[in-house]
Amino acid sequence: MSIVYNEESKLFILSTKHTEYQMKIDEIGILQHLYYGATVGGMDMSYQICQLDRGFSGNPYEYRSERGKSLDTLPQEFTGANVGDLRISSLSIKSANGSRSCDLRYKCHEIRKGKYTLKDLPYVRGHNGDLAIEEDVQSLIITLWDSLIGLEVKLHYGVFEKKDVITRAMVMVNNGKDWIRVNKLSSVCIDFPHGRYDLIHFYGRHCMERQMERVPVKHDIISIQSKRGMSSHHHNPFVILCDADTNQNQGCAYGFMMMYSGNHKTEVEKDYLDSTRLVMGLQNSNFAWRLEVGESVTAPEVIMTYAKNGLNQLSRTYHHIIRENVVDAKYYNLRRPVLINNWEATYFNFTEEKILEIADSAKELGIDMLVLDDGWFGKRNDDNTSLGDWFVNQEKLPSGLKHLADGVRERGLKFGLWFEPEMISEDSELFREHPDWAMADPERKPMYSRNQLVLDMSRKDVQDYLFDRMAEIIRDANIYYIKWDFNRSVSNFYSKALPSDRQGEVAHRFMLGTYALLDRLLKEFPELMIEGCAGGGGRFDAGMLFYCPQIWTSDDTDPVARLQIQSGTSYGYPVSTMGSHVSASPNHQTGRRTSLNTRGIVAMSGTFGYELDLTKITKKEKELMKKQIKDFRRFYWLIQHGEYYRLTDDRDESYFTCWEFVSADKSEALVNIVITDVHANPEIPFVRLQGLDADGWYLVEGTDKKYTGQALMNGGVVFGELVANCGGSDDNYPGAQYHLIRIG
Ligand code: DGJ
Repeated sequence: MSIVYNEESKLFILSTKHTEYQMKIDEIGILQHLYYGATVGGMDMSYQICQLDRGFSGNPYEYRSERGKSLDTLPQEFTGANVGDLRISSLSIKSANGSRSCDLRYKCHEIRKGKYTLKDLPYVRGHNGDLAIEEDVQSLIITLWDSLIGLEVKLHYGVFEKKDVITRAMVMVNNGKDWIRVNKLSSVCIDFPHGRYDLIHFYGRHCMERQMERVPVKHDIISIQSKRGMSSHHHNPFVILCDADTNQNQGCAYGFMMMYSGNHKTEVEKDYLDSTRLVMGLQNSNFAWRLEVGESVTAPEVIMTYAKNGLNQLSRTYHHIIRENVVDAKYYNLRRPVLINNWEATYFNFTEEKILEIADSAKELGIDMLVLDDGWFGKRNDDNTSLGDWFVNQEKLPSGLKHLADGVRERGLKFGLWFEPEMISEDSELFREHPDWAMADPERKPMYSRNQLVLDMSRKDVQDYLFDRMAEIIRDANIYYIKWDFNRSVSNFYSKALPSDRQGEVAHRFMLGTYALLDRLLKEFPELMIEGCAGGGGRFDAGMLFYCPQIWTSDDTDPVARLQIQSGTSYGYPVSTMGSHVSASPNHQTGRRTSLNTRGIVAMSGTFGYELDLTKITKKEKELMKKQIKDFRRFYWLIQHGEYYRLTDDRDESYFTCWEFVSADKSEALVNIVITDVHANPEIPFVRLQGLDADGWYLVEGTDKKYTGQALMNGGVVFGELVANCGGSDDNYPGAQYHLIRIG
């Protein structure tokens, strides 16, 4: 049993293969958090709680004569508000009488077989085809409540025993007699009464997403958040708390990943007693939800894990749960298409002939799918116009989309198409017909970004319109794949369909609307594959991965910049989810020149494809591309399902980046290295490999070099040949791939 409740001690124990999570109900019904970490064998960890009288930390009325018992100092599983815990709180409410207090006490609990699901929100699947079965999961739902106002907080826990994952979500229900305004809605609150931690988070910007940053948690509140209506390029909804000496392969680390694509916030506070609290949930500065009697509102799911052996181990746990329980099972054993996308080849400037010429070259190389990007609809020849008018651009494609799609298919390629469903151009038929569908405050001009406005996705009529338009095109042109883009931050959160006192709900309802549309389209077209995108990787999160097996990682396709972006992304997300393409050199974003070989190596640690004008490549490039595609197919399962190891850490190595995939049975590995900086008289790159069979012998494919697993992992490897010609050569960022095969 992975969830046990002891009636006598009032102790909950949630166990996975290597971790344990404990909570306890105290004498007055406060749910205390006792422990999360490596297995402690069911030992009641309440011995770690020291109830000392600390000045200025008050006591609940029932404990008025026991001054060591304070909500301000004891670890809480989920806090109320305005009742004595002065650290960051899990919720904020206002009752109809103006009171902001919420005193949460235990009411009841339920242990269930299988995984709970969430209404209208993505969640980690208990059942996922042949990959995941409900028998391996248990759920616990603990109801806390404030009996005076009738507010219930239902804490949901999903325990994935074999995966070492615990999920949490929270459903708030108003079972009182009057409405309640919810001003802060969190999924998780967790206290670490002891220990010193570093926070690792992933900040960034357009074209430079998910840069890993590590900061010590000090006596302050760190908050990682997005108010942009999207999970954002700027702060990913994923953080790691780890010991100060944790590195890639050693030390303790906790991961918290929110399955949400909208406004989010994670706060981490070290309090005056050196205890650390993390609260993760919806970003709340513009949030206010009117919860009517009998209604509920749900805080999105958070995927938690604990690793005892470093950051690589933590990442691999996330890779498994995302591949096996988040992404739709049908993609697990399906080879996803190697694609050619026309964006960096033509931008808006294309004709049917040009696209078919690209398709011809793509076919010759062995590419599986052509994706027609932005510019095929309305009157769109630049980014000033037509979003929302999901009708073919007759001037550009006079024979129609179906004709083009058929032409691509006749050449033996699948056909994919770009949409940006949640946006509207002021210069569009749609805007002229429905100006109130664009989000804007009444009587104010909306904020512009990339010349476009944002559709009010909270409206059912908007969702219906998009569904009808998209369904017609998907059906008519027989679309296999959609690239679902989102090219601006949202501002002016205002829905003309909601009353004034519900405007604080718009940001969350917007996201629910997008999820509803995705869900509806996938139900209507079960074979449709959607790649998420948001001006590159502005919505790279586990929420989108529930619907989309892959997400365009970044608009920066420079392989050297990509290494950092993909490495940052890999802390939480598997390479099978990272859209990655070979583009032209010099690179369109950075101007950097790199070899086709290096570009191929980097793009192969992703879903792999090309994004350049294939009609302009040389014969030599063509031959190398053919080989790359063959190699990618040969290494496909090793890359997509293999165990992933970062062998270098950006913090201590800026000269080269090295990473490795190892098959589950350790019979083969793929070691990748790229030089990322130009050094004269360069030092010799050196790493120790990971995850091999220590007792085995490995052959480096294509050579007669043989090494023991022990030598490769303990002694390490050197890459002298790779840098011999570096500095001043045509290939200043050389890369190499080594395929190791176990031979004994
Ligand atoms: C942003 C995307 O990330 C690009 O790949 C491309 O699709 C453009 N939008 C098109 O407008």
